[in-house]
Amino acid sequence: MTIGIGLLGLGTVGSGVAAILASPQGRHPLVGDLVLERVAVRDLQRPRPLTLPPERLTTDPEAVIDDPKVDIVVEVMGGLEPARSLILRAIAAGKPVVTANKAVIARYGQEIAAAAAQQGVYVLIEAAVGGGIPIIEPIKQSLGGNRIQRVSGIINGTTNYILSRMADEGAAYADVLADAQRLGYAEADPAADVQGGDAADKIAILAGLAYGGPVQRAGIATEGIDRLEARDVAYAAQLGFVVKLLAVAERVQDDAQAGPADGVSLDVRVHPTLLPKHHPLAGVHGVNNAILVEGDPVGQVMFFGPGAGAGPTASAVVADILNIAGIRQVGGPQAGLDPLLAASSWRHCTL
Ligand code: NAP
Ligand code: HSE
Repeated sequence: MTIGIGLLGLGTVGSGVAAILASPQGRHPLVGDLVLERVAVRDLQRPRPLTLPPERLTTDPEAVIDDPKVDIVVEVMGGLEPARSLILRAIAAGKPVVTANKAVIARYGQEIAAAAAQQGVYVLIEAAVGGGIPIIEPIKQSLGGNRIQRVSGIINGTTNYILSRMADEGAAYADVLADAQRLGYAEADPAADVQGGDAADKIAILAGLAYGGPVQRAGIATEGIDRLEARDVAYAAQLGFVVKLLAVAERVQDDAQAGPADGVSLDVRVHPTLLPKHHPLAGVHGVNNAILVEGDPVGQVMFFGPGAGAGPTASAVVADILNIAGIRQVGGPQAGLDPLLAASSWRHCTL
């Protein structure tokens, strides 16, 4: 049985996904069942790393969603609109969605989860945080028995790449940012990376999942690295510190006795931080990300790996596609909402 994939976007991430689907050998057997049926792009004339039959490419994303051969819609175009409306259109059509779009999920996750719950379709978002690091599923499920105290880490690859090269080579901020853009790490508008907005989107998503309720994106105190200079990083090193852009979400009151309907008070923030050189996050170099989860009773768990780029992000997108494809293939529910993403199961969180 083949499963039709509709891709909205064939840029850095979309091309990575198409490359995996084009070479299934040696991967999970289900990869061989995935067929890239339709792909939406903005510019049909743009040279692509992978050649696709011209009839599969379109500039009309709605035609991809509405194509009867498309079973799963993969949104990797980025931006807020039309991405949000297209995700909602796919859900309304009863088609499961995989998205890497943290900007949309951080702002409209509740609306999307509610629509998905109503239609009974999956919306999976593993690629939205941490690039190739599996972090969404572990935080939602594997660590679900824990009372989470703190989620903190380096969750923007572009800024970690910039800070690492400033520290290692004394490189100038603007030069290294240009390299990060060339390597496909940065957002279409890199202001989201360097001003901390991308990390704020991601910590909003992680906190929402860890604490069981949507976190107001607009309330997250955010400071980026755009005003740092190579000499700031050098002075920090002389004092025995490493500069990292950290995103943090932590409980600020002991609500261990609170029932599921009660609110959780959180401090959620993004800012450059001086870390002692022996800190577990201080050695995270280049485009890598690392996330520390502190919970009761598990203690401290660290997730580490490449946080951006075509291959790592496509790895996470394809994992979500395989999750949905696997459920279809074993004859499980043809569609069904991931219960932990359901708006109805989210508790109210205050910042
Ligand atoms: P990208 O390289 O800019 O690619 C965007 C793709 O979407 C392009 O193929 C573009 O078409 C297409 N597109 C944009 N608007 C469109 C529209 N209105 N109609 C049809 N096609 C449209 O972006 P990316 O880096 O792959 O990122 C995609 C998403 O993944 C974003 O949400 C981003 O935040 C997220 N993400 C990226 C990474 C990463 O490392 N890059 C990692 C994790 C998550 P053209 O090619 O014709 O311009
Ligand atoms: N621009 C993002 C980053 C892509 O650098 O982390 C991965 O989400």
